[in-house]
Amino acid sequence: MDKTSSQFTPSPTPRKIPFTFPDDLEPVWKPDDPEFCAMVNGASITMPFLEPFLIKTMREASAGLAEGEVKESSRAFNMQEQYHFTTHRRFNELIKAKGYPELAAIEHDLKRHYEKLKGQSLRKRMAYTAGFEAMTLGVTKWLVDQRVELFGGADTRVASFVLWHFVEESEHKCVAHDVYKAAFGNGVGAYLARVYGVFHGSLAVAWYSMRGYKAILKKDGRWYKARSRWQLARRQWGFLRYAVPFLLRAAWPGHDPRKEKELRWVQDWIGGYDRCPEGQVPLLDTSHPAMPVPFDAQNAAANVA
Ligand SMILES: [Fe+2]
Ligand SMILES: [Fe+2]
Repeated sequence: MDKTSSQFTPSPTPRKIPFTFPDDLEPVWKPDDPEFCAMVNGASITMPFLEPFLIKTMREASAGLAEGEVKESSRAFNMQEQYHFTTHRRFNELIKAKGYPELAAIEHDLKRHYEKLKGQSLRKRMAYTAGFEAMTLGVTKWLVDQRVELFGGADTRVASFVLWHFVEESEHKCVAHDVYKAAFGNGVGAYLARVYGVFHGSLAVAWYSMRGYKAILKKDGRWYKARSRWQLARRQWGFLRYAVPFLLRAAWPGHDPRKEKELRWVQDWIGGYDRCPEGQVPLLDTSHPAMPVPFDAQNAAANVA
């Protein structure tokens, strides 16, 4: 066992944060960037179908493992994913009710996709799970590095919810990979199946997300407008520029997600949350020029009060 893989990684912490999506929240929650809003809303549509699949697969793959760090982390992973998809489901209901009922057709196809996957081998499903999780690390880096450009001036209720999700994606970055290796080993067959999963998991979710944002932008009358398509291309490039290197590294032999660098902002968010009063929703200041983690400002406000 090499030095890196023997490092102890603490179990992820599930945080049930009471985000609310009241009626005054608009599907274009960042008025100057409806294309990015459509991308996020489109990706959100996939979560209540994808994440229950990840949980079921993880549960099945870890069932035969001995009690220990990996199994313990898999339970925490499942709880985090459960909080993610239940929050996304509430958000998605609002989006659909606010003028996009056609997204239900994509939900129907997502349901069929995961029903079909159920018939695949556990190794294939777990490789899909670990593969998708590899992409989330690239997305986290994109959203965190570019947070001021992507979320500056946005409705904080959406910005804070999306960044919470991806902070936790970063926190459980090793879990699916560890379970895959513990359950299926390091042999050539397991490696090749894992590489297939990297692209299977990430491309499938990207495909349904694309269908989601295409439907949204068509409904808005933006899909055929050159200016809108240019802005969408800029955002797509941002996503690819960050996600692809993570996918390529994930497909490399001997890949270990522990080697992916931790992000300072993510670490600050995790550390800050420990000081956050229970039941409080950590809301970002989206008008701040650096958009810091929200906790210090909230504590300062609480102390003044
Ligand atoms: Fe998640
Ligand atoms: Fe995840």
